[in-house]
Amino acid sequence: MQDEPVNISEFQQLAKQALPKMYYDYFNGGAEDEHTLRENTAAFGRILLRPRILVDVSEIDMSTTLLGYNMSSPILVAPTGMQKLAHPEGEKATARAAAACDAIMVLSFSSNYTVEEVASSCSAVRFFQLYVFKRRDVSATLVRRAEKNGFKAIVLTVDTPRLGRREADIRNKMVPPKMSNLEGLLSVDVDAKGGSDLEAFASQTLDPSLSWKDIEWLRSITNLPILLKGIITAEDAKKAVEIGVSGIVVSNHGARQLDYTPATISVLEEVVKAVSGAVPVLLDGGIRRGTDVFKALALGANAVMVGRPIVYGLAAKGEYGVKRVIKMLQNELELTMALCGCPRIKDISRNHVHTEGDRIK
Ligand code: FNR
Repeated sequence: MQDEPVNISEFQQLAKQALPKMYYDYFNGGAEDEHTLRENTAAFGRILLRPRILVDVSEIDMSTTLLGYNMSSPILVAPTGMQKLAHPEGEKATARAAAACDAIMVLSFSSNYTVEEVASSCSAVRFFQLYVFKRRDVSATLVRRAEKNGFKAIVLTVDTPRLGRREADIRNKMVPPKMSNLEGLLSVDVDAKGGSDLEAFASQTLDPSLSWKDIEWLRSITNLPILLKGIITAEDAKKAVEIGVSGIVVSNHGARQLDYTPATISVLEEVVKAVSGAVPVLLDGGIRRGTDVFKALALGANAVMVGRPIVYGLAAKGEYGVKRVIKMLQNELELTMALCGCPRIKDISRNHVHTEGDRIK
């Protein structure tokens, strides 16, 4: 392989070479049998494209908006924790790279640089990802700090009442570095008894009693729009809209939580139908190509988020690598739009893809 990767898969190989096994496994792995992990990418392969020809594609415009914010393309950076394990500049490098590509970054609460440090490293639009902790005051403080530092939305992750069983982390006795945002807020006495420290940390801090009433609580303490990340059924999507959230992220946490959930792209349409345009629907999980972004948009997503590929770029080549990964996906999307006869995002329609379900009908 050349040193300058030409696709995300080559970035992944470089990341694997660059990282100690414990860290690569942490970034790359999924829960239990990793069935869902394989499915998240494989399901995209079962969706085929239906290009329309003889459309003027001399100008392609990938720009779009989300919650009123302009984006150069419908690709966001998903929240992934502990990026110092990938590169010393961690989330600061990712934030600068996302800003340079005019892509919104969602900062994970479990970042190794604080909300304040990331905010001061660049001035682009950013969202903040939150968990609800047993200690509500800790979550409330994080929300206030995100607001104060100019984050424009809260992305509340709702698929993690407990941490999924990531066997590689257990086997490697994964020790996370400090979660900077919690310094001085929460001290946890982690004793993993020889397993994953991350799991021990999560079981002490995350609140398994989290329920719909807590979304009301979150709404009562902030004016920022709230997106729920981790919805994969029509039932929950309807409830989320009823309760007044500003957006939904169809996500199975990159297959790191409950194994044997479907690939996110397989349930996207179900959620989009349930939401019926009331709020934006985003998708993450398995996006590795511009064609994947196109397929998600054709099946009704307003935008997508990308997790592991960003970390691969960061581990392989720091800030430059993240920029290259985002640009690569943007360029691939642009080419897909041209070859499918879709000069603008709104031209991408359900008729541009062919799913397995379409064959059965
Ligand atoms: C994640 N994800 C995640 N999600 C979240 O809400 N908070 C977090 O702190 C993290 N941390 C995290 C770390 C790592 C290493 C990974 C790979 C993922 C899930 C992430 O936001 C997203 O849902 C998935 O990564 C999307 O799937 P892909 O793009 O990685 O296939």
